[in-house]
Amino acid sequence: MSKGMILATTLEELRAARGLLGAPLGLVPTMGYLHAGHISLVERARAECASVAVSIFVNPTQFGPKEDLASYPRNLPGDLKLLEDAGVNLVWMPTAEIMYPPDFQTWVNVEGLTSPLEGAMRPGHFRGVTTVVAKLFNAIQPQKAYFGQKDAQQAAVIRRMTHDLNFPIEIVVCPIKREADGLAMSSRNAYLNPAERQAATVLFCALNAAQAAYAAGERNADSLRQAMSDTINAEPLARLQYISCADNDSLEELKTVTGKTLLSMAVYLGKTRLIDNFILGE
Ligand code: PAF
Repeated sequence: MSKGMILATTLEELRAARGLLGAPLGLVPTMGYLHAGHISLVERARAECASVAVSIFVNPTQFGPKEDLASYPRNLPGDLKLLEDAGVNLVWMPTAEIMYPPDFQTWVNVEGLTSPLEGAMRPGHFRGVTTVVAKLFNAIQPQKAYFGQKDAQQAAVIRRMTHDLNFPIEIVVCPIKREADGLAMSSRNAYLNPAERQAATVLFCALNAAQAAYAAGERNADSLRQAMSDTINAEPLARLQYISCADNDSLEELKTVTGKTLLSMAVYLGKTRLIDNFILGE
């Protein structure tokens, strides 16, 4: 391990290390099993901040009872090597007992924005995300925090929470990183078997189909949703969970596309649930 990268587990270790870091401090919150998408967040933070902290914590409260908490991929030695190579100053790896002691009973909940899309499909998910991110913000006290556009609703919800709770933190949302064939990078891609991995490009193809229709002048939201669902339904290994064409700020479903519009979807490949999105009108 380079002597430049401090590893902390307890809150006491974190606070001691935090005091050594120059401002502004950029935080990249993660659940580990890092890929080039995470590293692009670290690189952006490095470019904009005097020091960079990364948290690694597979947050149990954002997983539903039937979701993949137990099987969520982990590779701590690999993660630490990537972070060291990327020039990170501090890695905080709290335990579940530190984050959620037995008498834990305080939650952070964003209302309206968490109702549709991922919030509708994954009840309680965003309550877990906002609670843990608020705890990370309080413990680490960064000036900036970096999130990926791949989780578009998560980014919007965290922005809302940061504003509503007056955290003095700038939220920076970074572009989706894709594999060469267009698949959005995700730790969950590790679950795909070779056939599913090949079929998984269908999400990107569906977004491209809607984008092409938009570029050709289509503004009817149902037609754009149809272009996406036709593409997904043509792939036998894919099962569409939801498709959305929504206002990028309110996340409300649209009839007609006028301003910035979020196209998004969740699709199952076998047992693996993947999400992807694209913003029209940027
Ligand atoms: O995007 C993620 O990896 C997680 O939702 C986050 C923001 C680290 C909170 O656990």
